[in-house]
Amino acid sequence: MTDRELLDLAIEARKYSYAPYSEFHVGAALLTKSGKVYKGCNIENASFGATNCAERTAIFKAVSEGEGDFEAIAIVGGKDGKELELCPPCGICRQVMTEFCDLDTFRIVLGDEHEERSYTLTELLPLSFEGMSK
Ligand code: THU
Repeated sequence: MTDRELLDLAIEARKYSYAPYSEFHVGAALLTKSGKVYKGCNIENASFGATNCAERTAIFKAVSEGEGDFEAIAIVGGKDGKELELCPPCGICRQVMTEFCDLDTFRIVLGDEHEERSYTLTELLPLSFEGMSK
């Protein structure tokens, strides 16, 4: 699957985003090494700390179904009724990716309907804490 195709699936996933408080809607599509895709969206809560990001929704869906080998994740986001804007993953999501994904080969694909760019975890979270996990 190309990065473009994965981003298009993230755009699809964003349709289900539940974000009545921030009005910032995020979609993610996580590709496993076996070629399956798990989609996720952000799900907010009146108690703001209970909000779950799109990336973690997708990763937790996959891990809870026994998946553990991941190739890439595409992420898109933007405000209600506005153009998509670059949506780099938050720090907590980067840390969660560090738990399950290879630091140098897993691709984090960002973009919109027109362009895509990809980063490694080492680039987005240098010197990450892995003490307990690897
Ligand atoms: N959000 C994500 O879904 N992923 C991120 O990596 C950054 C932030 C969501 C959380 C919240 O619902 C909204 O975007 C505004 O912060």
